[in-house]
Amino acid sequence: MGRIAEALKRAEQERIATGCSPGQSVGRPAAPTRTGGAATPSQMSSLLHAELPLDAPLTLAKGLSESLVPYYERSSAITEQYRSFRTRLLSQNPHYEHRTLAITSAVPKEGKSVTAMNLAISLAEIRHLKVLVVDCDFRRGSLARMLNQPESPGLAEVLRGEITYSEAIRHTPIPNLFLIPAGNTSQRAATSLLASAAANPVFQRMQNDYHYTIIDTPPATTVSDIGIIGQMCNGVVIVIRLNRTDETAAKRTVRLLQVNNIPIMGCLLVGKDVVGSRFGTGFSSSYYRYYNYYRREEKTE
Ligand SMILES: Nc1ncnc2c1ncn2[C@@H]1O[C@H](COP(=O)(O)OP(=O)(O)O)[C@@H](O)[C@H]1O
Ligand SMILES: [Mg+2]
Repeated sequence: MGRIAEALKRAEQERIATGCSPGQSVGRPAAPTRTGGAATPSQMSSLLHAELPLDAPLTLAKGLSESLVPYYERSSAITEQYRSFRTRLLSQNPHYEHRTLAITSAVPKEGKSVTAMNLAISLAEIRHLKVLVVDCDFRRGSLARMLNQPESPGLAEVLRGEITYSEAIRHTPIPNLFLIPAGNTSQRAATSLLASAAANPVFQRMQNDYHYTIIDTPPATTVSDIGIIGQMCNGVVIVIRLNRTDETAAKRTVRLLQVNNIPIMGCLLVGKDVVGSRFGTGFSSSYYRYYNYYRREEKTE
């Protein structure tokens, strides 16, 4: 029996012994391992029930982005949408292998960063999982800001050898969730940093240390980073913003991933019409405009 299966069995026995309902804490079982056995339906159900209780008191930390819906609104419809995507990812992974997933989309401002963070929060709700969210958008890092933390030092500094991997890892107010911000680098140097020899061992380390590593990336059609990042991940999730994402750009993103042999793990439709009116909207769907926008900034630099 794999370690996860044993851990789940032990948790189940403890729960029966203590008379706890599935959502209640009975101590922290061992984390899933890469070598765990296949999940039976009841093991999968135990895993999903091992979430923090829905009414768990959360400290509403000052300065956190209001986009962190699964953190603030644990029983809202939006949070449930993230949870169903999480369930899909978990069921695609019956052997509990460690997974590194990149989140991308065709152009900027389609919701990649918000999706990366909220998906990571949803995964971290499962007590057995240790989750890392990494900002690989060196040009427009935003994850640290969402968590009211400084942008650097971060991944850029690790890849330049200025700090160690362990020094870059930050605790977040969310239990089980850790962050590596983008750090500080010139936009021109961003792609070469990812292509450097230092990148692969760092990604390996993340994959070894965390059950799920969620990587936020720059837009696929504007910079080539996803071609490099995708090679170091198990797969990519594409974000499509309803009524915003240009069809040509979305198709181009899919083609780009296919020619690089990067597995597409799923596609998330996001947007006001899907999840309610909480988020601000209002941007053009022309990806050429965004392309120029990204490139212009790079040239200025
Ligand atoms: N699911 C969503 N629905 C509506 N607006 C969203 C959604 N996700 C993100 N947004 C908003 O879109 C803007 C861009 O989101 P962000 O995640 O930074 O995009 P990207 O990382 O693709 O550039 C932000 O103002 C954010 O609040
Ligand atoms: Mg972003």
